Amino acid sequence: MSSPGPRVVVLGGGVIGLACAWSLASRGADVELWDPAPGQGASHAAGGMLAPVSEATYEEEDLLALALASHARWPDFAARLEAASDISPDLHTEGALHVGMDLDDAREVWRTADLLERYSLPYQRLSSRELRRVAPALAPGARTALLVESDLWVDNRFVVQGLLAAAARAGVELVARRGAPIVEGGRVVGVASCDHGTPRESRCDTVVLAAGVDSGSVPGVAELVTLPLRPVKGQILRMGGARGLLDHTVRGTVHGDHVYLIPRVTGELVIGATSEELDDTHVTGRGLLELLRAATTLLPEVGELTLVDAVARLRPGTPDNGPLLGLVGTPGLVVATGHFRHGMLLTPVTADLVTDLVLDGVSDIAEATPFAATRYPPPSRHHPEDSP
Ligand code: GLY
Repeated sequence: MSSPGPRVVVLGGGVIGLACAWSLASRGADVELWDPAPGQGASHAAGGMLAPVSEATYEEEDLLALALASHARWPDFAARLEAASDISPDLHTEGALHVGMDLDDAREVWRTADLLERYSLPYQRLSSRELRRVAPALAPGARTALLVESDLWVDNRFVVQGLLAAAARAGVELVARRGAPIVEGGRVVGVASCDHGTPRESRCDTVVLAAGVDSGSVPGVAELVTLPLRPVKGQILRMGGARGLLDHTVRGTVHGDHVYLIPRVTGELVIGATSEELDDTHVTGRGLLELLRAATTLLPEVGELTLVDAVARLRPGTPDNGPLLGLVGTPGLVVATGHFRHGMLLTPVTADLVTDLVLDGVSDIAEATPFAATRYPPPSRHHPEDSP
């Protein structure tokens, strides 16, 4: 008789927590996932762009390497997810267009091109005639463009639905509660409820902390590891009636503002996203105005589309924009949070890493090494006796 798999509790049911839970259960672990509203946090508001090349940023070479490692896993991950759930994540391979409107916007697009060259990342420059051929609905003033064919995209909400179904079929038990790690004898031995319901406890071998921006404030976590997370609010819209308008995702720089447009198989168009150093999830007039102004300048037809929904959620930002991943000094805890703007993209590599660490105690995913969950020291405490 084979020995039973380890018992694991995953705290947090966004795409990261769900994918870790599904992956662990598929490999024989006995998994509970605790979240009062799985899939309703940042994953609900994501654009779904899997765009390591387009999101490349100066001085973030380690993050780019991790993003490329995850991007390479996505086609297989999407196929497995569909097979396991009968829900297609709607993976698209047509690529991303970077478009600038005025001269300053054009300079920004060319700076992106320089960066891509520096990292030997593939892209094509498009003439205005070529741009009109591939995206005729864009405003005639949109002259400056790059095409990044390797960038992919998925429908974030289909990914969430697929993961919920795949996790359930693999035997993951969903617990609609907030939980916090139980520490005994210097190790994490389970999870106890920390909300208002009837007290509940689950004993386990490992807790995976994947609660997005809330991870650092889960009771007791600050004593185990320093997670310097900060909320970065994003507002995002869905408009209906856009079938046939765009065949690519479009990342626009519009008179200095940034906007992305993502077509959906449902005929909807996603318009995102604000980036605000705020800790609330209100949809605001200013947020909508900012997005719609840039979107209608880039794609005038947006003005004729119907509003389907507008949501705001909090990205889990970190000081270096990189995720917080892996084991901590206290045995029995694995951290998977801080994915900031890249949660959807980094889901497959994070699930593989966490599965390796929980089941084998080590992982050979070298690209994750710079993103150790323990890389930030605890905040220094000022003691009066330290004063001169
Ligand atoms: N990754 C897109 C966003 O965070 O808005």
